[in-house]
Amino acid sequence: MSPPPTAALSLSLSLLLLLLLSFSTTTTNAHNITRILAKYPQFSSFNHYLTATHLASQINRRQTITVLVLDNTAMSSLLSRHFSLYTLKNILSLHVIVDYFGSKKLHRISKRTTLASTMFQATGSAPGTSGFINITNLKGGKVGFGAEDNEGKLDATFVKSVKEIPYNISVIQISHPLDSAEAEAPTAPPSDLNLIEIMSKQGCKAFADLLKATGADKTFNQNLDAGLTVCCPTDRILKDFMPKYKNLTASKKKSLLLYHGIPVYMNMQLLKTNTGTMNTLATDGVDNFDFTVDKDDEVVTLDTSVVTAKITGIVKDEEPLIVYSINKVLLPKEIYKPVEAVSAPDDDEEADGPADSEAADDQTADDNSGVQGLGGKRLVMVALSLCIGMLLM
Ligand SMILES: *[C@@H]1O[C@H](CO)[C@@H](O)[C@H](O)[C@H]1NC(C)=O
Ligand SMILES: *[C@@H]1O[C@H](CO)[C@@H](O)[C@H](O)[C@H]1NC(C)=O
Ligand SMILES: *[C@@H]1O[C@H](CO)[C@@H](O)[C@H](O)[C@H]1NC(C)=O
Ligand SMILES: *[C@@H]1O[C@H](CO)[C@@H](O)[C@H](O)[C@H]1NC(C)=O
Repeated sequence: MSPPPTAALSLSLSLLLLLLLSFSTTTTNAHNITRILAKYPQFSSFNHYLTATHLASQINRRQTITVLVLDNTAMSSLLSRHFSLYTLKNILSLHVIVDYFGSKKLHRISKRTTLASTMFQATGSAPGTSGFINITNLKGGKVGFGAEDNEGKLDATFVKSVKEIPYNISVIQISHPLDSAEAEAPTAPPSDLNLIEIMSKQGCKAFADLLKATGADKTFNQNLDAGLTVCCPTDRILKDFMPKYKNLTASKKKSLLLYHGIPVYMNMQLLKTNTGTMNTLATDGVDNFDFTVDKDDEVVTLDTSVVTAKITGIVKDEEPLIVYSINKVLLPKEIYKPVEAVSAPDDDEEADGPADSEAADDQTADDNSGVQGLGGKRLVMVALSLCIGMLLM
């Protein structure tokens, strides 16, 4: 007995809705620090510099954050010291705590004192614990703030709570800028970010050498200022691929390398919320040279339809540049023949070996992570056909 048509219809529709909900990307725009501060003219200078240093967008991307804001008087004492914009960025990022501290929590710190990690710490440019700030409950209900590397001096005190959206963003006014020798140290502008040097030092030397040898590094560097994401096959992975690489023509070599760059800054959070087709530095008017970004819980995969690579780590994250390590060379379908989507059993074996070479050699390579990456899509397809089937009943 088949269910009555209306029941089947509502069942299939709710099934479809459920699926759409679980697969839709979660790009909820939680908060906008620029808009929050725009209502307060006394913070206009701080707000201006959050935008000028690109800290505003980094703050907005974080899901849990506390901004220690300075009024225009406190800002002018800071600005009178004529820091470069890049140094100012470090200083201001020391005023952004990567945790939620509302007024209540600030006044009731357990054991009366704590160290909080800031965005300066998160940049990786803060040596030791210099990216932490000390928050201490003082006598008379006051709350003191000081940089951890400030010899125990608490420069600033809590003034008032400006805006609290628990537990997304808290904006707290403090009395004075936090002094920190490390944050105030002269900083090289990001255009001095030396991609080749960074990669060479962090297990991506083989890839960096290829970029240099082909001149592809120029294209990567041209995109640095506007934002760049690099997917770097680690030295071991690349070594296994070299015989095949040597076989390519000069122009295909270059395309393959450019294929490993995305002309926009995509940190993990952005990648996870923007799954789907991604253009690369190799993309031009004629050839797509794109791949599909997918996520499976915490694992982000890049599916070229020839291979599926996994992101295995972050080599460098300093906006506007992020470099990931990946476990396979990305083989574009414009150069290698795509693998048929085979339904291989989904076992748990880690596919982090040099499986890329096999994938291109024999077109039926059972690429485990590829199957994982396709799993979600196949589920949708099955559910859709199920729905359609029920509708036709
Ligand atoms: C907090 O952020 C989450 C997503 O990050 C969002 O869904 C929620 O609506 C936000 N809460 C408020 C009160 O804005
Ligand atoms: C945040 O708000 C500002 C000012 O209202 C606006 O210019 C900017 O586009 C907003 N940013 C985002 C990401 O919505
Ligand atoms: C924070 O600074 C105060 C004052 O110098 C000090 O007594 C306290 O131990 C510090 N707290 C932490 C967690 O280091
Ligand atoms: C290189 O290309 C030749 C000719 O197409 C082919 O026979 C050979 O197997 C290739 N070698 C590798 C390592 O792919």
